[in-house]
Formats: sequence, structure tokens, C-alpha cells
Amino acid sequence: MDTAALNDWYRQHHRTLPWRETRDPYRIWLSEVILQQTRVAQGLEYYERFVARFPTVAALAAADEDEVLRLWQGLGYYSRARNLHAAAREVVSRYSGLFPTAYNELRTLKGIGDYTAAAIASFATDAPHAVVDGNVYRLLSRLLDIDTPIDTTAGKKQFATAADTLLQEYLASPGHAGAGSYNQAVMELGALVCTPRNPNCDQCPLSSNCLALKNGTADRRPVKKGKAVQTPRYFHYLHLTDPCGRTVIHRRAGNDIWHGLYEFPLVETATDTEIDPGVLPFAATWRSTIRMPRHILSHRIIHATFHCIETDDLTALPIPEDWIVIPSEHLGDYAIARLTELYLARIATTPANPR
Ligand code: ADE
Repeated sequence: MDTAALNDWYRQHHRTLPWRETRDPYRIWLSEVILQQTRVAQGLEYYERFVARFPTVAALAAADEDEVLRLWQGLGYYSRARNLHAAAREVVSRYSGLFPTAYNELRTLKGIGDYTAAAIASFATDAPHAVVDGNVYRLLSRLLDIDTPIDTTAGKKQFATAADTLLQEYLASPGHAGAGSYNQAVMELGALVCTPRNPNCDQCPLSSNCLALKNGTADRRPVKKGKAVQTPRYFHYLHLTDPCGRTVIHRRAGNDIWHGLYEFPLVETATDTEIDPGVLPFAATWRSTIRMPRHILSHRIIHATFHCIETDDLTALPIPEDWIVIPSEHLGDYAIARLTELYLARIATTPANPR
């Protein structure tokens, strides 16, 4: 490990980012949870919004889950937002609102795994825990030319050990800048130089020690075993509108994707088929259907069709109990999944707007 070269590179090339200017574990945690979901450029906006609205963990804990989900909107994978909120409440109830910085305490909080605990502990207090995120997996797989797949138990173990060994080497060398700086530096190097395609090896401070560069294997690292199976799902959304400019939404319940978010009433079919207008317990005019492009999630491929349906006064119809009648212009006040957002954006720019 060339400590001086790594430090110099980081000092000269790192991006100035607000979560790198603080030792506040709450803010570091917020940034890490957001950055697991999106890139730095977009993450910055969300981070600023969360910090402005919830300057302390107590403020976040006191918020309504709906508000947290709404602020999270657009980032996807809403269980992260729910965990964020639940963890804030745990910090208030178990730690009197004082955000912990010890790795083992952090690990007990909802949604905080090895990576996030190591990031918070090292960035806030320089505790010697190595972070291993996607960028670091790639960097280590090249530096040490490891061909064990990173998405296997054996791989995760091997990379965690390698990361700890390198951190220990770094901390044992003269002129080191602490575990927090080391972790930021290797992550930044992975993000800016040791990129997935066409890494900039001639600018890399670690290139003289890089085994993949020496062996000509960099473009085959890291090795991955395979992708998760993605199950197809067939969603038919009923976009009802009445003459008074109202529509209907419901809140997704249960233990499924997007629970807690709002959407139009949904009929799910097991295969790619039409639905029978008899699904509605009242007469209505089915105007048009819009088939959305496949919507890909980590474990699902959603085939969604939105049906534009005109009804009589919705408040006078025998609708199911969990349906909520709202003015169409209030749709923006609810946390909705990206798929529904995409549909709404699409009809907003289509001449035959059903609203
Ligand atoms: N991605 C995840 N954590 C990050 C951090 N602290 N700085 C920049 N990018 C990141």
C-alpha cells in the first residue's frame, strides 16, 4: 500500500461534498443511505432536502412516515426510507437522540449493515473499520486480482478480509490520515479512476502495485456469478376520473413491493391477459388503455397497463372501503411509486389527457 501516493491523490482529486465536511454521525448516515440508492449528483439534492427538513435525528423521528416517503420519492426502493425512519425512532428511544458511532451499536439499527456501520464509524470517529461498497469491490478485485465472484458468501468473506488487511497496512504506515480518510480515498478512487469500463490506470496512485493491471485482467474484474431471477408481474391500474375532476387512489398494504405508497386501484393477473370491466362494482366508460414499457426492479419485472375510465360522481358510487377519492390535482401530495409517476408524466404530455 503506497500510503503517500493514495493520500496525495485524494487530497488533489476528491470532490468536495457536504457529508465529507462533517463528523456528525446522523448526517453521515443520511448521506450513506441516500447514496446507496443514487449517484452523487442526484444524492446531493436529496441530502440537502433531508438535512433542511430534518436537521436532527429527533426531527426525523418525529415526522410522519408519509412525509419521509414523500421526501424520498424518486429514489425508489422505499423500504430504505421506512428503515431510515424506524432507525431514527430507535436512536431517539434507545440512545436519547444521540446518534451512536460505535460499529456494534450502529449494526443493531434498522437498515444499517456492515457497509453503513463501517462508513459511519470511520467517517465520524476514524474507527478502524474498512468499508466495502461496489466501488471498493471493484478496486480490490483489481488491485489483488481476485477472481472469486463478489456475489457469493465466499467472495464477500474474502473481500472483507482483504479490505481489513489493507486498512491495517495503511494505518501501520507513517503519514497515514486515519481510517475515515482511507475509506473515503478508496471509494473515491473506485468512483473516479478504477471505473467499471476503461479504468484510468495511468492516473492511479496504486497502479504500481495493481496485479490485474500487471496480469491484463482488469476488464474482467470483478467477477459476478449471476443476476437474481426477476419474476414477471402483470399490473392493471384503474385510473378513474369523474366529472368533478376527482380520482381514486389506495394505499398499498401487505408485505409486497411499494407497501405504504399510494397508487391507483390495482388488479393483478397471473399472466399477460386483459381484465374484465366487471371488476368494477358499478358501470363506467372504459376510454383507453396505456401499456407502459417493462418496469424493471431488482427482483421483478412489472408489465403495467393503465386503464383510463370515466365514471359518474365518485363520491356517490359504491366503491371499496380502502379507496380514497381525491381531487386529481392533489395526486402530487401523495408518495407514489416511480411507475405511476412515469404514467402521470406521460399522460400530462399526451393530447388525449384523461384528466
Ligand atoms: N458513495 C457512498 N458513500 C459515499 C461517500 N461518502 N462519498 C461519495 N460517494 C459515496
